[in-house]
Amino acid sequence: MTKIEFDTKTAGSAEMLAVLKEPEFVIDSGEFKGKSVVSSEQFTPAAIGQLMEVTRQIEKMQAKELLEILPGWRAAVLFYEPSSRTYSSFMFAAMGLGMNTVGYLGMVDISSVSKGETIADTVKIFGGYSHVLIMRHPEKTAALEAALNSPVPVINGGSGTFEHPTQALLDYYTILKETKFRDPRSLHYCFVGDLAKGRTVHSLTKLLAKMGAGRDGSYFSFVSPEVVKLPESLRFWLTDQGVHVYETNDLEEVAPYADIVYMTRVQKERFVNLDEYELARMGSKLTAETLKILPKDAVIMHPLPRVDEIAVEVDSDSRAAYFRQANNGLPVRMALLALVLGAK
Ligand code: NCD
Repeated sequence: MTKIEFDTKTAGSAEMLAVLKEPEFVIDSGEFKGKSVVSSEQFTPAAIGQLMEVTRQIEKMQAKELLEILPGWRAAVLFYEPSSRTYSSFMFAAMGLGMNTVGYLGMVDISSVSKGETIADTVKIFGGYSHVLIMRHPEKTAALEAALNSPVPVINGGSGTFEHPTQALLDYYTILKETKFRDPRSLHYCFVGDLAKGRTVHSLTKLLAKMGAGRDGSYFSFVSPEVVKLPESLRFWLTDQGVHVYETNDLEEVAPYADIVYMTRVQKERFVNLDEYELARMGSKLTAETLKILPKDAVIMHPLPRVDEIAVEVDSDSRAAYFRQANNGLPVRMALLALVLGAK
């Protein structure tokens, strides 16, 4: 276990990213074993490449062969926030590799958390029963706090507005597949919606920047109403890395040049001020009209769930990749579990 000092009450994103630069968190190719995954910042480009390659291999394997990868190993899936895709794909990923699972969806209501147990105590207990913990929590600092206290690796399945690194990994895999392996460093990415509170964009932009996107002929356009703009700290972080950042509130302005359009839901549950939520809802929507101005080989993505930011009529367009994107969660999460647990 670690000796890193980290104050969960005062730590912001910058402090957390500083802790995640420590050698025990950095993940290079061939070094996944025993590592917790809190942020997409932890991976080197070679590690992301390795994960993509293992995912491709997993996709080619038969269900019977997959069951022999981690037979009898144990995963505890602890979710303190609602989830459909992340929870079920992690459960199926673990079971598909031959693992045994304990899953808590509603951790707050039905576990000892309802009696006042802390994250530190909870992860010590579940870490004693299982080989890996997968956790989702409304607090930004929760995944890092869990990783610093757990005897086994912790995988972040979403930590408040901070990050959702496994979503970013499956998003990146989707981008590679859907663009037929075009160079991700040559694409124009448009991120649309709640860029302030949507953690998937926070993780994906960091990962893409890490892979060299956003420089030279590549751009990141951020489309949102003023109230849910990209956090300033992340904008600075990206520009500091040399990423071209363009901000607008109008999707139609950038759609004709988009290779990837990444739509997101307004995170209603994270608003304290409902007037701000109403303003956030006024943002750009993707409709049949937008389809007319999008390039013919653009890729439309969304981490899901969708509310009304993508009209249902878009679903039948071949560029709508969001359901295929969700399906990619299973092999990507299988690959990550296999690597973190050091499967052969
Ligand atoms: C996202 C999340 O939980 O951050 N969902 C997901 O995991 N696919 C996006 C959202 O809730 O809007």
